[in-house]
Amino acid sequence: MTHSLHSLKTIPAARLPRIAEIHLGDAGLLSKLGYPFVLRYFENAIQDERAFGFYAQDDETGEIMGFSLASPEPSALTAKLAEDKAWFIRNIFKVIFTRPLAFLQVIISSVTIRGQMYEPNTIECVYFTVNPKFRGRGLGRSLQRALMDEGRKRGYKKIYASVETWNIASLKATQANGFRIIKTFREGFYHRHRLESEL
Ligand SMILES: CC(C)(COP(=O)(O)OP(=O)(O)OC[C@H]1O[C@@H](n2cnc3c(N)ncnc32)[C@H](O)[C@@H]1OP(=O)(O)O)[C@@H](O)C(=O)NCCC(=O)NCCS
Repeated sequence: MTHSLHSLKTIPAARLPRIAEIHLGDAGLLSKLGYPFVLRYFENAIQDERAFGFYAQDDETGEIMGFSLASPEPSALTAKLAEDKAWFIRNIFKVIFTRPLAFLQVIISSVTIRGQMYEPNTIECVYFTVNPKFRGRGLGRSLQRALMDEGRKRGYKKIYASVETWNIASLKATQANGFRIIKTFREGFYHRHRLESEL
């Protein structure tokens, strides 16, 4: 089975919901907020000038196998979720009542992100996720590697990633791509490694 990588910016709008569904396999906070937030996030991400990413597609069936996303300022992507105030209030209230712990984590994480320094000439590997049936064949690693290659082409000098300490598959793929752990920290319910690599 062969696959090809394509820029996320070129994905047909009708296929974006599939990216959102695959993303729900990520254990991070965005998934916990639920599908409407995830879809809105990726709708914003593909329109964001500075964010970039890739999706992997099975050459035979056309099925989307996974994707990756990077940005020099991930907090700007998160902030865009609140741009449409009416939409945001309606949906965040649903989270408050149905998933109060996720809402608590939003507050903790937004404080943490605000405290994070974004150095010039650096990018964050914001997400990389592979459809469970295609995992364990090096696809995660190549989707993240594509972010690194594109980041280097755009003149960025360093890439960062945060990975939960239990997430062995992500840690293995990330470290195989040359990242090293620079610190381990707690962010609310999450216990994460911070990793970096030169580009
Ligand atoms: C992380 C993720 C993208 C990796 O995708 P993938 O295509 O399976 O990744 P790769 O095959 O390139 O590499 C995974 C490595 O972890 C290993 N691995 C996978 N699952 C594992 C497990 N449960 N325990 C130990 N090792 C595991 C694989 O064998 C491979 O190591 P190897 O290269 O030494 O053989 C995928 O697991 C995923 O989508 N997870 C959910 C979303 C997520 O957590 N994203 C990362 C957020 S930081």
